[in-house]
Amino acid sequence: MDRPTMRVWIIFLLCLAGQAFAASITEEQPILDEPVVEEEPIMEEDEVMPEGGANPVQVETGEFDEAIEIIEEDVNAENPCLNHHCKKGKVCEVDEENTPMCVCQDPTSCPASVGEFEHVSCRHRTHYSKTGFNHLYIPRPFGKCPWPFFSFYVIMSDFCICVSQVCATDNTTYDSSCHFFAHKCSLEGTKKGHKLHLDYIGPCKFIEPCLDAELNEFPLRMRDWLKNVLVTLYERDEENNLLTEKQKLRVKKIYENEKRLQAGDHSLDLLAHDFEKNYNMYIFPVHWQFGQLDQHPIDGFLSHTELAPLRAPLIPMEHCTTRFFEQCDSDSDKYIALEEWAKCFGIKDQDVDKDLVI
Ligand SMILES: *[C@@H]1O[C@H](CO)[C@@H](O)[C@H](O)[C@H]1NC(C)=O
Repeated sequence: MDRPTMRVWIIFLLCLAGQAFAASITEEQPILDEPVVEEEPIMEEDEVMPEGGANPVQVETGEFDEAIEIIEEDVNAENPCLNHHCKKGKVCEVDEENTPMCVCQDPTSCPASVGEFEHVSCRHRTHYSKTGFNHLYIPRPFGKCPWPFFSFYVIMSDFCICVSQVCATDNTTYDSSCHFFAHKCSLEGTKKGHKLHLDYIGPCKFIEPCLDAELNEFPLRMRDWLKNVLVTLYERDEENNLLTEKQKLRVKKIYENEKRLQAGDHSLDLLAHDFEKNYNMYIFPVHWQFGQLDQHPIDGFLSHTELAPLRAPLIPMEHCTTRFFEQCDSDSDKYIALEEWAKCFGIKDQDVDKDLVI
């Protein structure tokens, strides 16, 4: 397997571009109520990320939101569609009575997913190369691609790439999430459409089976990555918008600890050894990531949807992602509780602390 080497520390940023787009996102009830039983890893519907949140480890799942259908009518507006928002995959049109309604979007009307962006410091690419936990994610404003691209900021080599393609649960690559949602809309009402979800960012690819040994290494590597993400955010937090004061206080202790294992290309033995020796440094990063994901609602449980921002970019890079999170849900209730999450990362029961989820 092509295990990511840890030679290059890369940070990338996933964000959805466009405030207008973000502004159109609003929460609603999930379409799916029942637990999803497909074999394919799925990304459930109905997810919205907090705007401007400084979470490096997630993509804004506005991109994955399939359930928006907000109707705000303004009778005075000349164009009835102006204030008539449609869920993803639909656009507003007026009928003969000038009444706005949402109809399936024509995929050809989706923003072009090729071309150069002169106004962003990102280069257009359809593929992002071998990555994984040797890549750190960093939040805005380090790179921004126009919607419907996801931007990946690679910090060590200081470049940013834009990726528009997405892979859906039918293992079909769509030019962008816009194209995907337009297609899904055309299947509305069918079982096939109901079961179709975005799975991950990037073109569909062959994902190697995750071997048991690799699964065991996964938390080691992810834990180290989480810690390094936090430390990097701390270092780069010049404008004080990456971490909150409370978070900074916690990370400061890690950052200033001389015994801290620096980010780098470490063997699994060293990672394991460091976890034993510097166990305390890993407690907060694990809690912090949970808090970043547990937003809709904030209830101490991660749904499939809440997990999506972390899974979607990670799946094509880290082939154990799906298995790891499945296993994390040790009681198989489709939700990962804080206790389950902490356990997955080797945090002892007595160190699981709700108050650290800040
Ligand atoms: C999904 O598609 C990719 C690319 O076409 C292919 O390599 C891979 O084997 C497919 N995976 C499955 C599970 O069919």
